[in-house]
Amino acid sequence: MAETDTPPATDPVLLASDRLEIFTPPVTAIRKHRIIGFDARDARARPFNLLRTSFAKKLKEEGHRLVGVTSATPAAGKSFLSMNLASSLARVVDEPVYLVDLDIRRASLGEEIGLEPDHGIESYLEGSVDDLAAIGRRIEGTNLCIFPAIRRANNTAELLAGERFSQLIATLRDQSDAAIVLFDLPPAFANDDAMISLAQLDGFVLVVDSGKTTKRHVQDVMSMLYPTPCVGSILNRYRGGLGDSYGYGYGGPDYSKYYDREPE
Ligand SMILES: Nc1ncnc2c1ncn2[C@@H]1O[C@H](COP(=O)(O)OP(=O)(O)O)[C@@H](O)[C@H]1O
Ligand SMILES: [Mg+2]
Repeated sequence: MAETDTPPATDPVLLASDRLEIFTPPVTAIRKHRIIGFDARDARARPFNLLRTSFAKKLKEEGHRLVGVTSATPAAGKSFLSMNLASSLARVVDEPVYLVDLDIRRASLGEEIGLEPDHGIESYLEGSVDDLAAIGRRIEGTNLCIFPAIRRANNTAELLAGERFSQLIATLRDQSDAAIVLFDLPPAFANDDAMISLAQLDGFVLVVDSGKTTKRHVQDVMSMLYPTPCVGSILNRYRGGLGDSYGYGYGGPDYSKYYDREPE
């Protein structure tokens, strides 16, 4: 990690969402990556609205604001769900919703919204960029602020265990009491990254890939991440049930369902 003398002071103004550059995601990227949470009129966004409501209620009840999204294995839909959940949440809350890419080895949020930044959150963590506001983008016309990462293959655990990571968390915590921060994390089994970063967050959401994630996986993730609270689970790529009545079918994303408890 690059040497840093004193980390920048935590100052809410540093990260006020109106300091962030505004970004308009190209429609092609939004379509390609199936980001439907921005559009209230899109019928496919309805399951995310349900997900958002249960999720926001649970966070409020339990006083959690900084929440990681993880899974047992890769490609479970963490980034897809984080992006859609965050964009859907940002439509109903008055405060900004922050979405931070911490899956530094397989960072994807920038690409998903068609953003090609020169530096991402990894540069803040290693100390080469001091101003967090230079990394985040506010999505035009919304309350959603995205902090992308640029992929990096090595030393990610060191970045997440460093002083700058604590500083990032402190700065995000210092934002308004009502701001929700979602972190797109790596899979829990891949390396130490999810476990290290979760030690400083309020809780995690477990994405369960329907048909792929086994009961054993879930039990192992729960014990691995203990004592960080699991604020719920999302059953992804689930077909049937409520999804059918919401018009999910050909061409649409598979249904996902939030459970207000740990999976059994
Ligand atoms: N419910 C879903 N419906 C449609 N496509 C999905 C769904 N969940 C995930 N995907 C797609 O599957 C791929 C892997 O998902 P991703 O979110 O990148 O996984 P992860 O972040 O867990 O590695 C992506 O192309 C994503 O768009
Ligand atoms: Mg991902």
